[in-house]
Amino acid sequence: MHSYRLFSLMILCCSLIGLVGSEAFPAQPPDGKKDKKGGKAGKSKTSDPRASKVRPFQDLWIPPILEGKTLDLSLAKYQRLFLEDKATPTYGYNGHKFWGPTLILNQDDTVRINVKNELEEVTTVHWHGLHLPAATDGGPHQLIQPGETWSPTFTVKNNAGTYWYHPHPHEKTQKQLTLGAGGLIIIRDPIEAKIDLPRTYGIDDIPLVLSSRRFKTDNQFSYEGDNDKYGDFLLANGTMDAQISLPAQFVRLRILNAEIERGYELGFADNRTFYQIATDGGLVEKPVPLKRLKLMVGERVELLVDLSDKDPQSSLDLMAYNAGQSFGFPGGEPDKGPPNGSYFNDKDFRILRINLTAPTQKRVTKLPETLTVNRFPSESEVSTRRNLQVTAGRPRFSFDNKFYDMHSTNQIVKLGAVESWTITNNNIFGHSFHIHDVQFKIVARGNEAPAEYERGWKDTVYLPRGKSVTFLAKFEDYASDTDPFMYHCHMANHEDGGMMGQFLVSKNPAALKKDANGMVRIPDRSEHPLTTEMITAADQQKQKPAPDFRVQDISGQTLQLASLVEKKPVLLIFIERDCPCSRESAGYFEKISQAYSSTCSVVGVINAETQTAQKWAKSVGCHISLIADPNLKIIRDYQAERSVYTTLIAPGGKIEKTYPGYSTDILQEISLSVARLGRVTPQTVSFEGAPKRLKSGCPFVEE
Ligand code: C2O
Ligand code: CU
Repeated sequence: MHSYRLFSLMILCCSLIGLVGSEAFPAQPPDGKKDKKGGKAGKSKTSDPRASKVRPFQDLWIPPILEGKTLDLSLAKYQRLFLEDKATPTYGYNGHKFWGPTLILNQDDTVRINVKNELEEVTTVHWHGLHLPAATDGGPHQLIQPGETWSPTFTVKNNAGTYWYHPHPHEKTQKQLTLGAGGLIIIRDPIEAKIDLPRTYGIDDIPLVLSSRRFKTDNQFSYEGDNDKYGDFLLANGTMDAQISLPAQFVRLRILNAEIERGYELGFADNRTFYQIATDGGLVEKPVPLKRLKLMVGERVELLVDLSDKDPQSSLDLMAYNAGQSFGFPGGEPDKGPPNGSYFNDKDFRILRINLTAPTQKRVTKLPETLTVNRFPSESEVSTRRNLQVTAGRPRFSFDNKFYDMHSTNQIVKLGAVESWTITNNNIFGHSFHIHDVQFKIVARGNEAPAEYERGWKDTVYLPRGKSVTFLAKFEDYASDTDPFMYHCHMANHEDGGMMGQFLVSKNPAALKKDANGMVRIPDRSEHPLTTEMITAADQQKQKPAPDFRVQDISGQTLQLASLVEKKPVLLIFIERDCPCSRESAGYFEKISQAYSSTCSVVGVINAETQTAQKWAKSVGCHISLIADPNLKIIRDYQAERSVYTTLIAPGGKIEKTYPGYSTDILQEISLSVARLGRVTPQTVSFEGAPKRLKSGCPFVEE
């Protein structure tokens, strides 16, 4: 698609049929209004001179769809040609040389997403906007080491809407985003499905991801923190100088601001009215008519625009009206080069050229009057109020004068609470505030009510300079005393610089062990390290009699250890319900249990109530016999307070060996020992994809 031959051919054809304007981007707004700050060019360097070169339009790339209940994502390094002479090193998911497939998820489905890291550096994948357990959130704590696969499982609880996924490793987010790692998520639900809305992906339902990049002289992307907060080259879905053919009818645009820092004031070149139908967290109650709309980093919006008045063959530009913004608007600075400017700063510019074509057969012909009914938390339910301040310890921004510390919480929230958060930005510049776990309702901007277009569900909000914003959110469903959620400025340079905090949602905050500041220590979850004491303790269990138990498994079958071990070996697998390694290893133990189905009893013990355990087994696709042990009774008897412990019991009832953690080697060893104890020939079991290094899982948490 981006071959050089095709490219040169396009230049030729395009200039002949006049697709290339006299300027690739109008320096003057189409309505003839002059830039308010024109001429005040700052003292910074100039923008990349290559940015002003006239280039032919290229067709907007539409990321392909990835759908289902088990999805595989794989992040790898590529090269892609953006500028004429030399390819640019990039990151992309699933073979795409920049960005990734659009995931389509259905509300209420339980999905498993296998994320493989084929990079030479660590990454994470965060499901931006999704409400799910912190251990599956993909924040800075859920690191995926090079070569490894992370397989979170979660139930899709959000409303139909546009969400996204992207890397979140602390201090590396700007780099990985810049290189191209990210993708959209579309959630569908029955309410949205019943409304007559454009829904044909790529035809009248168009994903549009906005960002810009700066290239070094050798065409590598530049991602040096604050110096590269604004790019000189605009990318729409990774396409430079993008154009799209759209039918002259109602179309839906799902727009994501995936910039590092730049905000966009969206509008159409003919100043037409368009309709907002969804905010970050799904549909608004009824379409909101607008001519301009600000979209900050991390925010999404769904727009309906009626193009039926346009002649097929005519064209229309989607624009950014970024000229003359008040100071603090990201990208409004008049500078033209780094650190505070770019080719596009303080300028109105084209985002997308729309070429109209004939309307399609099946089309939406009128604007829906109503869309949904949203039930927001109310002021009367608020139990806690928090105030956060944007602060600046030169040269970096922070919240409340604290830079992000992975090992300490900043807030502790009680499970089920409705809270009111006020974020005050009495600092020199605008920001984009994002919180994980919840969708919130903006109730005030300073003393004013939020504008009509900010009255839906939000997870990201613009914090203009000198202003405050107050929102309400309910922190429900998911609690953990060890895995925190994040809140941060979504400008990746600010986030990497430490403008981030973390909070625990706890069932019982009073019972948490706190330090002098009332905060909780967050253990390092990235490596789940096994201490020497743990390894020795596991070793010392050898030859001891295995503690007996007589319980029903989750299918109602009675299991008594003493009778299970009469003739056959027993393999006990300890599972922490929220631990990604437990989920991942379950697949390998499933293989062992299949290979030795008649020679060994494989039994899992999970720290969950029966119902949760059933759900877990279903979502992971694990068919071994499972014991629900919510109070850690059996788990403690076996000193297995770390998950992914496996205890092999010899016929007769003595512990043969306890394996702390798992890796390819350990799985092989377990498989061979099971064969030896069962007196059968070893089966070939493939543990392909298992970690090379020892992984030990997460500590158990009581329900
Ligand atoms: Cu889109 Cu914490 O991020
Ligand atoms: Cu910021």
